[in-house]
Amino acid sequence: MLDFVLFGIFPYVAIILAFAVGIYRYFNDRISYSSFSSQFLEKNTLFWGSVPWHYGILAILLAHLLALIFPSAWMIVPDHLYVLEVSGLALALFTLVGLGLLLLRRLDNARVFRVTSVMDWILVATLLVQVDMGFMVALFYRWGSQWYLYTAVPYLVSLLSFDPQIQYIVTLPWLVKLHIIGGFVIIALFPFTRLMHLVTFPFSYLWRPYQVVIWNRSRQSKRSK
Ligand code: HEM
Repeated sequence: MLDFVLFGIFPYVAIILAFAVGIYRYFNDRISYSSFSSQFLEKNTLFWGSVPWHYGILAILLAHLLALIFPSAWMIVPDHLYVLEVSGLALALFTLVGLGLLLLRRLDNARVFRVTSVMDWILVATLLVQVDMGFMVALFYRWGSQWYLYTAVPYLVSLLSFDPQIQYIVTLPWLVKLHIIGGFVIIALFPFTRLMHLVTFPFSYLWRPYQVVIWNRSRQSKRSK
């Protein structure tokens, strides 16, 4: 019963919540999730944390998605398996370093700490746990890139066809099951957190005219700040 609630019902609750609240906020409350940039408060650690975090997590999530969409292309010869698994672990470490730096920056810098909301803390903590669990799954339950194809893929496909077949995953170790639940928790958190910036990424920056920013302060007063 617990398994059915967690893997047969909760994923739909998470997705409905993400869409319903996300669409509501997009049209009614857009300013509240796009305006709290902390780049003006601190930008050095932000750069060293943000770059590995974003490149790492995008590559990892792309790999999760490609294995779901093209499972047969993902079934590879054993030699290549090492390359795939080692690349996954390296990317996970890269991502963890980035996220760790972003967390330290919020804890360490008083000004950034002050503008960090409760939802920011919850999001960073959840992402940290989720990426850690992914790393441990890859480390302790070897060849995940292959067993994923016979467990998570048919399960996720069954969710997409509104016929949840949880038997594909309920016998997996709890660490793996928690990692799957973590994925849906992140989807549920989506509309309540900064993750909303994913749907408001300023793509129009690519074609809009340049903006010229001119500081309206004298050099002297800038130095004394
Ligand atoms: C339902 C959703 C998900 C499923 C079924 C899933 C499944 C898996 C599996 C089976 C692995 C092991 C891969 C290997 O051994 O090579 C893994 C690794 C990993 N996952 Fe997930 N995952 C999900 C969602 C997520 C999300 C949302 C994140 C991050 C926000 C994430 C981050 C990671 C990381 C960092 C790794 C380690 C890197 C790697 O080896 O690919 N996963 N995941």
